[in-house]
Amino acid sequence: MKTGEEKTLLDSLGDMRRTHNCSELTAKDAGKEVVLMGWVHRRRDHGGVIFVDLRDREGITQVVFNPELNKEIHRKARPIRNEFVLAARGTVVLRPEGMINPKLKTGEIDVMASELRILNTSRTPPFVLEDDTQVSESICLQYRYLDMRRPVLQKNLMLRHRAAAAIRAYLNNLGFLDIETPFLTRSTPEGARDYLVPSRMNPGEFYALPQSPQIFKQLLMLAGFDKYYQIVRCFRDEDLRADRQPEFTQIDLEMSFVTEDDVMAVTEGMMAALFKDVLGIEIERPFKRLTYEEATGRFGLDRPDLRFGLELKDVSDIVGTSEFRAFAEVVKSGGLVKAINAKGCIDLSRKEIDDLTEFVAIYKAKGLAWIKVRPDAWQSPIVKFFNDGEREALRQRLDIEPNDLVFFIADQSKVVNEALGHLRRHLAEKLGSIKQDRYDFVWVTEFPLMEYDKEEKRYVAVHHPFTAPLEKHIGRLTQDPLAVRSRAYDIVLNGAEIGGGSIRNHQRTVQEKVFEALNIDRGTYERKFGFLLEALDFGAPPHGGIALGFDRLVMLMANQTSIRDVIAFPKTQKATCLLTGAPCEASAAQLEELSLKVRLLKG
Ligand code: AMO
Ligand code: AMP
Repeated sequence: MKTGEEKTLLDSLGDMRRTHNCSELTAKDAGKEVVLMGWVHRRRDHGGVIFVDLRDREGITQVVFNPELNKEIHRKARPIRNEFVLAARGTVVLRPEGMINPKLKTGEIDVMASELRILNTSRTPPFVLEDDTQVSESICLQYRYLDMRRPVLQKNLMLRHRAAAAIRAYLNNLGFLDIETPFLTRSTPEGARDYLVPSRMNPGEFYALPQSPQIFKQLLMLAGFDKYYQIVRCFRDEDLRADRQPEFTQIDLEMSFVTEDDVMAVTEGMMAALFKDVLGIEIERPFKRLTYEEATGRFGLDRPDLRFGLELKDVSDIVGTSEFRAFAEVVKSGGLVKAINAKGCIDLSRKEIDDLTEFVAIYKAKGLAWIKVRPDAWQSPIVKFFNDGEREALRQRLDIEPNDLVFFIADQSKVVNEALGHLRRHLAEKLGSIKQDRYDFVWVTEFPLMEYDKEEKRYVAVHHPFTAPLEKHIGRLTQDPLAVRSRAYDIVLNGAEIGGGSIRNHQRTVQEKVFEALNIDRGTYERKFGFLLEALDFGAPPHGGIALGFDRLVMLMANQTSIRDVIAFPKTQKATCLLTGAPCEASAAQLEELSLKVRLLKG
């Protein structure tokens, strides 16, 4: 459009003011004069009459420009295109019988326009701004401000706002204090890489952006603040997935003079208030609890999805002495054989079973044995190795009935649990046996305090090094560190880890023992965390807390599959922002100020 034309086309807002949003007018408003403002979602021309679906964040209302009622305004409406910004004054009229759109909240009415101001024009958007738009994610992210005009993203971000408000109200009401903690700080050990920020005033030195406010919230307990919370950004330089972003948000809280039960009760109350306020859903309390041992034993994973059965059963005692060498040898060498009974799944084809075998291989399973239970016989490549007694024992242990399909994996327990745990979930998805309208919360408790990191060849904290061991296990810290269970707990919703926390070491002696069990030498821990150890010396109260992944929680509440769908400006898989072009090179002048010179070692 030429500038000259644009001048004549474009109006200013002037004295026009919005009276309603685009979703609230109903048949009851018939006869009212209203002013709506928004974007042109769609424009149709029917026999000279122009219909515009006007959209704002709340919804859509149809505005009608009829030449028979108002020639001038109809002429003015003619150049309107999608995504133009309009202000329209008009009268609410009932739609004629047969023209009512039951799918639209405002589908019973139209607004007959009497005044139109075109507040801005728009280029044709690079993709259709509908919920099911078929376009690459990179284009969406480059034009995120347009992407976010899509109703689904508008709904998600509004839901996110309501969720944050409900959580604040709940915690404020319980006397929690919202206290901010620094972003420019020292490394906080949560197991990911740090994002570093160079310091201009201290050449060659760097701040780390916090992976969580962990140390600060503990110091706030030392300072006497008792109940703290923050809805706070955390930064972790790790490989990204659908449920991981380099910067994400936690609902972070910490309490003094508490045990696990107190932190869990506050968290459960918070979830109940949240789901009630935002989704109108009553959540069953108290939440189930499983120890880490039970969770991995019965469901394979430490984030069990309890919306369906398909539990893992240990059959090592039955098949360990059988003629099937693959099983017998694994059991002899200290491994396990576990099975899942996929009830009624006898119709899975050979090809489908082969695909499942490939699927479990991702988790290092060396094979996937199976039995199809025909009404007259068991069909299976391995059944010939089992005698009658073993078959009967399997039938009882696994509740085997005609038409079942049973899967077995033999290996070391970690591989068996992980592979069958993922197979369990994969099968449930494939068979459509996951109840979609359920929110199943479960606590997983008593995690191991530490595990052995094969790559780094050292013990690492499963949670973080400030987590307290079970009191009765403190003695094991030096002799058998891998057997020590911790006072850590995760909260899991529908198979997703939405939060984790623990009771902390509030006595210096125990904290030092944990550092030592983690093979962190005194010099190192004094240098890195000396300030915290010193603080513990000044009357640290017993304390503990939790952090919930707010993005993940909102994602599940909004029924989405990626946290990118509930974050306004997310990053790509490669941690870039396609909208602003971050990260980017620093200018020579900036580097000079920071006393830095860039020499890339690779890439
Ligand atoms: P943790 O490291 O388990 O605990 O983190 C708590 C929760 O944050 C979410 N989360 C993430 N969400 C999106 N993207 C990420 N990259 C990401 N990383 C973690 C998860 C996780 O359960 N300071 C401790 C808490 C405590 O001990 O109180 C902590 O940060 O949902
Ligand atoms: P094989 O005797 O190696 O041909 O194996 C017979 C069946 O047992 C095949 O279906 C294999 O997938 C399965 N199998 C072999 N090793 C294992 C294992 N470690 N765990 C589970 N199934 C296995």
